[in-house]
Amino acid sequence: MKKRLVTFTMILMVLLMVLPSAFAKGATDDGGSKKMTVGFAQIKEDSPWRTTETNSVQQEAERLGIVLKLSVTDQAGQVAAIRDFITQKVDGILLAPQTRSGWDEVLQEAKNAGIPVVLLDRGVDAPESLWVTQISSDFAFEGREAAKWVAKKLDGKGKVVELFGDPAADPAILRNSGFMEVIDTYPGIEVVESKTGEWSQDKGRQVVEAWLAAGVDFDVVYAHNDGMALGAVEAMKSAGLTPGKDALIISIDAIKAAFEAIGRGDMNATVECSPLLGPLGFKSLIAATKGEPVDKYIITPDSLYDQDNYKNHPTMGF
Ligand code: AHR
Repeated sequence: MKKRLVTFTMILMVLLMVLPSAFAKGATDDGGSKKMTVGFAQIKEDSPWRTTETNSVQQEAERLGIVLKLSVTDQAGQVAAIRDFITQKVDGILLAPQTRSGWDEVLQEAKNAGIPVVLLDRGVDAPESLWVTQISSDFAFEGREAAKWVAKKLDGKGKVVELFGDPAADPAILRNSGFMEVIDTYPGIEVVESKTGEWSQDKGRQVVEAWLAAGVDFDVVYAHNDGMALGAVEAMKSAGLTPGKDALIISIDAIKAAFEAIGRGDMNATVECSPLLGPLGFKSLIAATKGEPVDKYIITPDSLYDQDNYKNHPTMGF
């Protein structure tokens, strides 16, 4: 009898230790995320912007008590991760698609399994019926804003080199088309070179070094992200040039390092692109799992920051 009582007391003690944390995991103030499990298929990319986005998703999952399964890979790995999330029967999936194409099949599989997919920060060319919403910036707007700034600074005449992101990725395609839409209205402005820096500071530096070594003459570097622009700064400095003066440098993202470069005069401008998408991502997924309506496109607002107004940014960069 005494032995039984000891065993019972021990079981009770273990339960008392385990149960509060089990309840805490599901206890959220919005009531929709109880014990929710979400898979996040993130892109493996060498950029501070992407790290900030991952942190935003992780922090919001933690705040809401959601179990997050994080995968950081290239596109083939992202497809495999989504299949793995489906097998694990997650409640929802966040996907940052590396490129626009190649998603139809796996998104159809998620849909067949009844798992909602929210696109984070980039778009795809798969049918809209296969995903809940796209939460991102308006990339063509960003390109147009950059071009208007360039046209004004050049007074309608000059040479531009363009550091492209991944040419198959949604933001790179739209940042190019938005930029060209405005630049094409200025016959005196010519884009003399355009090449991918693969979103990376190191690759951006190498591309600009090669242009400089080949004697390419330019007045402006337009980079599809801040990382590549910072690479251009390095390349110009090692060639004995003064970035920000010998050529203007404008890019997109508004990371903290770009704000510091603008403060030093190494860079001239950056168009904001918010990576803080975790809260909107989970809000949309939770709504979708409850069958509530969600807007098909949720666009985060962006502004251009240059040497005149960069101090107005609420956090001096992301
Ligand atoms: O999709 C958002 C873009 O992807 C960011 O501008 C860039 O830094 C990242 O590579």
